[in-house]
Amino acid sequence: MTIISNDKTVAICSDHAGYELKNAIIEHLANKGIKCKDFGTHSSDSCDYPDYAHPCARAVESGECYPGIAICGTGNGIGMTLNKHQGIRAALCWDVELAKLAREHNDANVLVLPARFITVDKALEVVDAFFATPFEGGRHARRVAKIRIEE
Ligand code: RB5
Repeated sequence: MTIISNDKTVAICSDHAGYELKNAIIEHLANKGIKCKDFGTHSSDSCDYPDYAHPCARAVESGECYPGIAICGTGNGIGMTLNKHQGIRAALCWDVELAKLAREHNDANVLVLPARFITVDKALEVVDAFFATPFEGGRHARRVAKIRIEE
């Protein structure tokens, strides 16, 4: 099972703290034939995570990309930024079970990883679990529908 469809590209972004892990994930997915659109950052130079999170969020919201992956040192700053977007459900996950539940119960459309608190090997396991897990729907669909703020 995979949540990836052939015509979709994964949106990925990070700040400097997540730069190396981002590259490792892009390579890991490329080896599986999964394409990523890299929204930066493009070096380990210090930068501001919202500059990369907002374009990445817009690409997922618009349907251009699905799903998204976002990485900063703790996962908190980039996740907070992503979740300002109405159409984004970004989930901070540092183990496989959290990633599965974020998909099964929350229909998370962006996986957020804390680069300074996870090994590369564990992060790749988490990515694989996230991508392999469908949304359960049912009672969870009712709850997810209530997340959005009425405008
Ligand atoms: C950068 O030092 C760090 O603050 C950032 O990667 C992130 O952890 C913020 O939430």
